[in-house]
Amino acid sequence: MTTPQHIRSLVKPDQVHRDLYISQALFELEQEHFFANTWNYVGHTSQIANAGDYLTVDIGGRPLIVVRQPDASVKVLMNRCAHKGSKLVTAPCGNTGKHFRCPYHAWTYKTDGALLAIPLKNGYEGTALQGLLTDSSIRCESSKGLTALQHVRVHRGFVFVKINNVGPDFETFFGDSLSSIDNMADRSPEGELEIAGGCLRYLHNCNWKMFVENLNDTMHPMVAHESSAGTAKKMWANEPADKPKPMAIEQFVPFMSDYAFFDAMGLKVFANGHSYTGVHGSIHSKYSGVPGYEEAMVAAYGQERAQQVLGTSRHNTVYYPNLTVKGAIQAIRVIKPIAVDKTIVESWTFRLKGAPEQLLQRTTMYSRLINSPFSVVGHDDLHAYRSIQEGLHASGNEWVSMHRNFAANEVGQAEVIAGGTSEIFMRNQYRAWADFMTMSMDMTSEKPIEPQQVSAA
Ligand code: FES
Ligand SMILES: [Fe+2]
Repeated sequence: MTTPQHIRSLVKPDQVHRDLYISQALFELEQEHFFANTWNYVGHTSQIANAGDYLTVDIGGRPLIVVRQPDASVKVLMNRCAHKGSKLVTAPCGNTGKHFRCPYHAWTYKTDGALLAIPLKNGYEGTALQGLLTDSSIRCESSKGLTALQHVRVHRGFVFVKINNVGPDFETFFGDSLSSIDNMADRSPEGELEIAGGCLRYLHNCNWKMFVENLNDTMHPMVAHESSAGTAKKMWANEPADKPKPMAIEQFVPFMSDYAFFDAMGLKVFANGHSYTGVHGSIHSKYSGVPGYEEAMVAAYGQERAQQVLGTSRHNTVYYPNLTVKGAIQAIRVIKPIAVDKTIVESWTFRLKGAPEQLLQRTTMYSRLINSPFSVVGHDDLHAYRSIQEGLHASGNEWVSMHRNFAANEVGQAEVIAGGTSEIFMRNQYRAWADFMTMSMDMTSEKPIEPQQVSAA
């Protein structure tokens, strides 16, 4: 029986119930509640540079359009025609010009969602839809045009939305974790990022939470990636120490660092499920310099600030729940849950405006080698996820252990810095999961909550 109390009982301070990963009912409730109550990333402004440019995305099962306005602002609209509900646009991206025109009966809308025209307009006299054509106070929902989201924030070009009216505002939700996005943007001598090319789209046969959990898991690389990164390390083992490493070797080898290295990296968790690994350096810290880059940074920011920006070399930052950022190499991964056991992961790469093109080559090589459908490292993780998804159906133990470095007093702390191999970030994610999952449910109700029974705010 699914009640808010039952959902909360699935998350203990140091372990979570397997249903979080394998229950179809919980997946549907997540779509309806959890993803509507949290701030989710929907795209970058560089993808919609001109008025009328749009992206389509789904958050919590709701189809959305992210669209650039004539005044350069960004609006996010429900992709649902006010007439009978057809999507206005179905392409992943494009330019709609000055208006959206529904492909079914040609109702048209301004890019801010306002209804512009209906074909054959005589025939609506005396109906509640007439309000569209006159100033009648009787206006039905459909006469108001497309539904625009109220909670939209752009931070350094990253567009986030929250669908429901409950939950914290943008600044409270992310807090100081936004410093990872800032650091990635500050790595541009112009302080601006630009999405380069399309994305690498990669189907994972697992629940979305396994992927998000794995991003800060530093107890697995030296084990799970031994076959890929370990082989690369062995290939290079007999080369002279002073021989310059090819870029691929430089990127593979640090995955095989030992437990002490990853523990010393440190990790930081923030309220509401966010975290990053790499407080004191990361697997990206020792990459060789790119000619001209440091000079461009010093010229833009001055010596001290440039060193501060480049000296921050975080591993992965999780913007819980749907965005993960790798600032040191300017790449992000976005999760798109499509079923309880299926998740699409998109890898996007950024160009640092004003920086040498070689940096973009470094980023694209990293994404190809590590985070793509044809990578040799990502598949190690994929195998683990699929194996967990199947293994959790075994009987005898319904709980997943997250005990490493657990301390009872960590619960409720807003920010914690821990050793890099601690599992505190997982526990932090699931505490947030339970909160945002039940926030829009009636906690006093004893009645079972079925998916679709509880309407969103
Ligand atoms: S469904 Fe869009 S115009 Fe009819
Ligand atoms: Fe991995």
